[in-house]
Amino acid sequence: MHRFLHLLLYFLVFTGCTSSQKNNTAGFNPYSYKGQKKVLAENGAVVSAHPLASKVGVEILKQGGNSFDAAIATQLALAVVYPNAGNLGGGGFLVARLSNGPLLAVDFREKAPAAASHDMYIDNTGEARTDKSQDGHLSGGVPGTVAGIFVYLKYAKLSLDKLIQPAIDLAAKGFVITEREARGLNNLQDELKQFNTVMPVFVKDKWKAGDTLVQTDLAHTLERIRDNGAKGFYEGETARLIVEEMQRGGGIITYQDLREYNAKVREPHVFTYKGYTIAGMPMPSSGGLLLHQMMKMVENRNISAMGFQSTAAVQLMTEVERRAYADRAEYMGDADYYKVPVSVLSSDKYLQWRMKDYDPAAATPSTMIKPGITTEKESEETTHLSVIDKEGNAVSITTTLNNSYGSRTVIGGAGFFLNDEMDDFSIKPGVPNMYGAVGGEANAIQPGKRMLSSMTPTIVLKDNKPVIVVGTPGGTTIPTQIFQTLINILEFGMSTEDAVYKPKFHHQWLPDEILTEKGFPAAVRSQLEKMGYKFANEREGIGRTEIIRVLSNGKFEAVADIRGDDGAEGF
Ligand code: DON
Repeated sequence: MHRFLHLLLYFLVFTGCTSSQKNNTAGFNPYSYKGQKKVLAENGAVVSAHPLASKVGVEILKQGGNSFDAAIATQLALAVVYPNAGNLGGGGFLVARLSNGPLLAVDFREKAPAAASHDMYIDNTGEARTDKSQDGHLSGGVPGTVAGIFVYLKYAKLSLDKLIQPAIDLAAKGFVITEREARGLNNLQDELKQFNTVMPVFVKDKWKAGDTLVQTDLAHTLERIRDNGAKGFYEGETARLIVEEMQRGGGIITYQDLREYNAKVREPHVFTYKGYTIAGMPMPSSGGLLLHQMMKMVENRNISAMGFQSTAAVQLMTEVERRAYADRAEYMGDADYYKVPVSVLSSDKYLQWRMKDYDPAAATPSTMIKPGITTEKESEETTHLSVIDKEGNAVSITTTLNNSYGSRTVIGGAGFFLNDEMDDFSIKPGVPNMYGAVGGEANAIQPGKRMLSSMTPTIVLKDNKPVIVVGTPGGTTIPTQIFQTLINILEFGMSTEDAVYKPKFHHQWLPDEILTEKGFPAAVRSQLEKMGYKFANEREGIGRTEIIRVLSNGKFEAVADIRGDDGAEGF
């Protein structure tokens, strides 16, 4: 695309001067824009972890793009303005509903490099080296984000030139960071020095709110993608920079790993709940199946009568979470490499049987909950964005570097963080990953295999039309957050804000404890303690849920989480 057109697009996006939208965006300045937490819109809406990224997406909708265009532009903008999780060096999942009806899932999860092996993080004393699976060069899987974008670009209407340019401009010209972003970068300084061979732009004595972050190397990487497509990342200059970084820092990703990486179109994991159809991600994410198991285990128990955050409802939800996560640890992994018994684990018969030892008066210790299949055989950082348009396309994307800022290694000269997703494998049976999750052979490392994820991009449909588009970061807490958000709306009839903002809780079988976030009612906690439940240290916040609901009048209600700087946009 000509430079002039780039400048014009930048002007349109960042001045908001499209003719129809003067009112909504008057006075919009990319350097001071704080965004909105909630919008009601008629034509389309975008919600993401950063107001500038949501703004980029909605401007693309205004220019005639559909939800896919907006999602791609938002995702690329997040790779610039939200470096903790927005990324080129990571991966994720898309669940979408196309305007003419079909559902779609795209898997752009990272893969283990060809040189990876089953015991690569076990040292010669038998010790599991989580430092190696979590930090620096060796923790990185082969990135999938760029390949994923080129798979769903075929559902977009505009050219990639147009969709990527706002990200290039944000990287080249910079954007102003918030207090929270400054804090994030300041906390990162020691690790940046430890895990980088070339000091990245993020290294600075002290960041403060109002500083401008310019990412020139990243702008050039994005330009190479604009000019050469996926090859601009997986081959040529960017591939050279990645491989040379690996060689300098003891990583194992090769040219061949990059060239051979492929994103995959998959069948979404679909189930019904009281007249709604719920579409989520299949393996290698546990998200869709866990959500299915948890929703079905409460479906016939009249949870709405128990009431939101009643002791009875929290106890029931804790027990179903415990049972689903026990299955996750034993059976779930990349189904291209390991036979995951999805239809048994999600059958009504199995899920009823799974709850047979449920006791509404007492905790079931996790030691008594074994992985459930007996005789039947099988026949803290990620980011989510939700988009909807008036044509009826709905897009739900969760992407991640795994940890906040991934491996904390920036590819020298290319300006983006490498993920540390290898830690999502079970590096040794029974050894917890950074989210405390354990696993075994189903999720053991093999070359080319994808590590098990918890990401749960979700679309809820009624009469085949999208009514909720939702997702969140939060490691293993992701499926339980989506479970609770959906129960809050579908069973407790809560407003969208309440469903997202009210304190959440989480149980994942092991460790056998309930994690709560600030504001969780103390009285419920003490009643549960009397029933035998243990509690982990309370967390400041769990997840950052980004949601769009289609109201009965057809309007889109987009709500961004208050747990971060997240922003909702619409028109
Ligand atoms: O794929 C997964 O399940 C994790 N890598 C997600 C990481 C995450 O959500 C971190 N966010 N707080």
